[in-house]
Amino acid sequence: MNLWENQKDAPPGASPLLEIEGLSVCAGRQTILDSISLAVSAGRTTGIVGESGSGKSMTALSILGMLPAALRRTQGSIRFEGKDLTTMAPDSLRELRGAAIAMVFQDPLAALDPVMRIDDQVGEILRKRQGLSRSAARARAVELLERVDLPEPQLKARMYPHQLSGGQRQRVVIAMALAGRPRLILADEPTTALDVSVQAKVLDLLRRLQTEDGLGMILISHDLRVMSHYADDLVVMRNGQVVETGLAPQVLANPSHDYTRHLVANVPTVHRRMLGEAS
Ligand SMILES: Nc1ncnc2c1ncn2[C@@H]1O[C@H](COP(=O)(O)OP(=O)(O)OP(=O)(O)O)[C@@H](O)[C@H]1O
Ligand SMILES: [Mg+2]
Repeated sequence: MNLWENQKDAPPGASPLLEIEGLSVCAGRQTILDSISLAVSAGRTTGIVGESGSGKSMTALSILGMLPAALRRTQGSIRFEGKDLTTMAPDSLRELRGAAIAMVFQDPLAALDPVMRIDDQVGEILRKRQGLSRSAARARAVELLERVDLPEPQLKARMYPHQLSGGQRQRVVIAMALAGRPRLILADEPTTALDVSVQAKVLDLLRRLQTEDGLGMILISHDLRVMSHYADDLVVMRNGQVVETGLAPQVLANPSHDYTRHLVANVPTVHRRMLGEAS
């Protein structure tokens, strides 16, 4: 299967950073993911959109072998930089997690240790992954907190997670993701739990870092407006199936599947803007 068939601006011969092919996941006799295929390129964001329960989160969890115990992969491959993650030893997969492949989930509190200061949490990753000393790790942690635009980084670095706002906590989680020097970021509804006023700022930040560092990103959202702003390539899921893929502006301006058309029709401003951009 040619994963680039709708991605006309992919360089000739380019191989994707991440390539999922024919992945199926079941819970007992129930099919959760039904032979899905998608790709993520370095320096690009692949958006996954679809209604609740369509399989977006299970797709992300499959990548790092973190599916809930009741779920099993029954077929398909997941290649990251050419290596099949489904056959990789658990230790090697653990090495990738939080380093080459970083995750940013909906709830930043769940990702943070409540009894550890911010600079120590970021620093712990730097010490483990880059072998920095405690003091060098703290200093580098503050630099990363600056990079994610945490206000007063020196001061906040010495605080505990509960002393920060939701948006600030998510910036810390993103700093922790960067500390592992990722090449791929999996962001599953990274702003859904945040106040509306900071959602765009956090998404802008993720987008900027992704572009500056040439990272690949999977951005999961049920919100097509988010996709119209932040996704280069778009994957539309429904009932565990991928119903449509392609360049995001093209899919949004000219959806080929009834379900995508239905989604777009329900966000009239997106439709108008994307039509305008495409013409
Ligand atoms: N532990 C589990 N055991 C059995 N089925 C599960 C389990 N976790 C999730 N599922 C099922 O997998 C399907 C896909 O769920 P998933 O969480 O991927 O949806 P989603 O697209 O991320 O939805 P949302 O937008 O609500 O986050 C759902 O039908 C869900 O009921
Ligand atoms: Mg989900």
